Amino acid sequence: MKTTHSRGLFITVEGIDGAGKSTQFAALVQALRARGRDVVATREPGGTPLGETLRELLLGQPMSISTEALLVFAARQEHVLTLIEPALLRGQDVVCDRFTDATLAYQGAGKGIPRDRLQALADWVHPGLEPDLTLLLDLPAEVAAQRMRLQQREPDRFERESVGFFERVRQRYLELAAEQPARWCVVDASQTPEEVWESMRNHLSQFL
Ligand code: TMP
Repeated sequence: MKTTHSRGLFITVEGIDGAGKSTQFAALVQALRARGRDVVATREPGGTPLGETLRELLLGQPMSISTEALLVFAARQEHVLTLIEPALLRGQDVVCDRFTDATLAYQGAGKGIPRDRLQALADWVHPGLEPDLTLLLDLPAEVAAQRMRLQQREPDRFERESVGFFERVRQRYLELAAEQPARWCVVDASQTPEEVWESMRNHLSQFL
C-alpha cells in the first residue's frame, strides 16, 4: 500500500551578518523538534557536499558579482533537488538558514544585480517553491557592525562589506517583507538574544 504524506513546512531565517542568526536558528530547530516535528536543518550557501564546497569558494575567493550570483544559484539547485524537495515531499519540515531572499538582498540590493535577472534564475532553479514562513532578524547595519567587531575570528569576504552595503541589504529585506506580509515575520534583532527568541517563539506559535 502506498503511504501518502502531507508536505512538510519550509521555514527560512534571514538577516544581515551580525544579526545573531546562528543562535536563533539553533533555538528554532530545537523548539520545532520539541513539538515533535521531524526537522531537517540546513543552510545556504551549502547544505550538500557540492554546496559546501561552493560555499567555501564564495566566502573566500574573489570573483565577479555575476559569477557569485550564478554560484549561489548552482549551490541552491543541488540543495533543492537533492535535499529540500525530497524532505518536504517525505513530510519533513525543512528549516533553512537563508534562501533566495538572501540573493535578492545581497546580490540584488547589495551588489546591484537587477531583480528580474535574479528572479529569472530563481524561477528556473526552484519553480513553485517558496518558503511557507520567513523569519527576518532585523537590526540597523551600524549595530550589526558593532557586534561583528567584537567577534574573535577573521571576517569572511561578505562580512568585510561596508555598513552602507549592509544597510541596503537590510532595506531590501524589509521591502520583501512588506510585499508579502503573510509569509514574513520581522523580528527586532537589536533586543537581547532572550528577547529575540521570545518574539520568534510567539510568532512560531501563531504560525503553527
Ligand atoms: P551565513 O554567514 O549567514 O551563513 O551566510 C554566508 C554569507 O553568504 C552571508 O554573508 C550572506 C551571503 N549570501 C549571499 O550573499 N547570497 C545568498 O544567496 C546567500 C544564501 C548567502
